[in-house]
This record gives sequence, structure tokens and C-alpha cells, in this order.
Amino acid sequence: GKRIAVMTSGGDSPGMNSVVRAVVRQSIASGCTPFAVYEGYQGLVDGGDMIKEMAWEDVRGWTSEGGTLIGTARCMDFMNRAGRLTAANNMVEKGIDALIICGGDGSLTGADKFRAEWPSLMDELISSGKRTDDELKSFRHLNIVGLVGSIDNDLSSTDATIGCYSSLQRICQSIDFIDATAFSHQRAFVIEVMGRHCGWLALMAGVSCGADFVLIPENPPSENWEQEMCSIVKKHRKMGKRKTIVIVAEGAHDRKLNKITAVMVKDLLSQKVGLDTRVTTLGHVQRGGPPCAYDRMLATLQGVEAVKAVLEAKPDTESPVICIVENKIVRKPLLDAIAKTKEVAANIEKMDFEAAMRGRDAEFEE
Ligand code: F6P
Repeated sequence: GKRIAVMTSGGDSPGMNSVVRAVVRQSIASGCTPFAVYEGYQGLVDGGDMIKEMAWEDVRGWTSEGGTLIGTARCMDFMNRAGRLTAANNMVEKGIDALIICGGDGSLTGADKFRAEWPSLMDELISSGKRTDDELKSFRHLNIVGLVGSIDNDLSSTDATIGCYSSLQRICQSIDFIDATAFSHQRAFVIEVMGRHCGWLALMAGVSCGADFVLIPENPPSENWEQEMCSIVKKHRKMGKRKTIVIVAEGAHDRKLNKITAVMVKDLLSQKVGLDTRVTTLGHVQRGGPPCAYDRMLATLQGVEAVKAVLEAKPDTESPVICIVENKIVRKPLLDAIAKTKEVAANIEKMDFEAAMRGRDAEFEE
């Protein structure tokens, strides 16, 4: 059977451990040998015990654990060819020629570059005398399969990234807690949520919690948003609302790309509406903690699919990324998915917000 490595990379997200568990166990069930790469790409470069063979019981109970138990890192060594050559040699050492990686778009792009470069890395191992032609006969191709782990839900081509629903759940719980104290004092709260350049967490939290106003990067508010927001908040107060909740995505900006911060919103609410206002930045509580049932399920089904994709790959197969589209687990070309994601960012930069919104909804159009 094949020798398959699984790795988590980039920011951790709830569900990553469920991925590792599913890959390890499905590999064993398929007659393959699974390995876990510890500390992301750094583990590939360091080799040795950082690339560890995994047994069935090594991942027992992992599906309910938050973060990533095999660690993750932003690795500088892997950025240069010398580091990648060492990584390739370490993989050959363990007999591994398939890598399943769970991470964000940056980590997945890196993985596909590694695949493209692999044959030339093998040539270099031979020409530098580290390995013989014979030794590398069965290592001519590296198999990469991507899984999207991120709380941001920022990858086009998939309806949900592994971790986004756990994070959304945590945000909603936090806003429920804040609601109680806001109600008591009739206060306003401005809540900053994560998501990098993506407004999904902010928008869905707004819908789920009944926020008064939401600010997201893809669909910035109108030119005179300050007055608009204040009059909406005033209207809600007149209707008898005792509390005000405004959600600001960390990547929020106006239509000219000037950053909109939680503090700016707070100043408006206190000075223009006269509300006693507090700012709460939720921070990394949105990222840690146990995965919700949906993320455990998504990660498990996608981990299983990733192993199947490895076993069905032909030497010239493009790297796939495992997605979920309209409730079905599907494989898509990794590079396409990343290109579409980059397009959204580019459209925001160009201030073409309509295109940016359409880009986020790509999965519904296909
Ligand atoms: O991508 C996940 C994320 O939590 C983003 O929402 C946020 O912008 C970023 O990572 C924070 O990064 P760091 O881990 O460096 O604080």
C-alpha cells in the first residue's frame, strides 16, 4: 500500500484533528501506511521524528479536540528551494510520495508548487549524489490533495471551509453573552470579528444574532454610511430596542478602501447617537475550542475523500482540493479554486465590489 502523509498548515481551525483522524484511519482501512507531519512545513524540512507513522489508536478521541494536535507553523525554510529539497529528501527517506494537507489558500498554493517542482527536486537529489536513480524510481511524482481548513470561509469553490461553523457558533454565543449585559444597561456594543479579507463570519453572525448593522469588506456601506448607520440604530431604539449590536469584520473598509475600525464605529454611536458604547474584539476565542458537529462531520467525510483521491490519482492528475457544494463532497482542481479566491481579493482592490460579492457566491452559480 501507499505511504500517505497528512499535515496541517497555516492558522489552526476547529476540525483539523478530525481531518487527521479520518486520513489516518481511512489510510489504514485501505491498506496504506499513514504518517503525520508535525508543525506544518517545518516538520517536512526537519524530518526525523517530525514525520511520524501513525497507528489507529494514535488518533483516538481526536475528532472532538480543538486546534491541531500535530501543530502548525508559518515556515520560512520551506520558502526557499534548499528547504524544499531537504523536505523532499526527508519524504523519500520515509517512502512517502503522497501528501494530504489541510490549510488555507496560502498553504495549499505552497503544496501545489512543491508538487510541480518535485521532479526537478528528485533530479537534484540524484545529481548531488544524495540519492541514486534506482532509489527514486518510484518517487517520480508527488501526489498532493488539499483540504480547506480555515475559520474565515474564504475559499471560493466550496460552501464551507473546515472550522467556519465552529467559529460562527462561538461568535454567536459570545454575542448572546454580550446581549445580556448590553440589554441591562441599554448599551451599544461594537463587536470586531475575524475573517481576514472575508466578511462571511461577520455577515452570518449578524444574521444569526439580529445585529443592527454589519460592516464587511466585500460589500462596503454607502458613501454616507455614518448617517445611515446612526439613523438605523436610532430607529431601532425608537421601536423599543434596549441594546445595539454593530458587527465589524476585521477587514472592513469604506467604498474608497479606507479602513473602518470598531473604535470609529464606537465614536459615532456615542457622539452622534448618544449611546453608552463599548468595543469587544473577540480575538482568538473564535478560533480555538472544540469543533461543532458540522465541522467534525465535514472534516471526516473530506478526510476520507482525500485518501480516495490519493488512491485514484494518476501521475499527471492535477492536484485536487476537496470541497462541499450543495451538500455534496466533491473534488475540484486546487489551482482553479485558489485563482477564484484571489480574484475576489483583486476585485476588492479594484473597488469592483459587485464582482467581489459574485466571487464569494461562485458555488451557487456553477
Ligand atoms: O485565517 C484565520 C485568522 O484567524 C483570520 O481570521 C485572522 O485574520 C488571522 O487568522 C489572525 O492571524 P494570527 O494567527 O497571526 O493572529
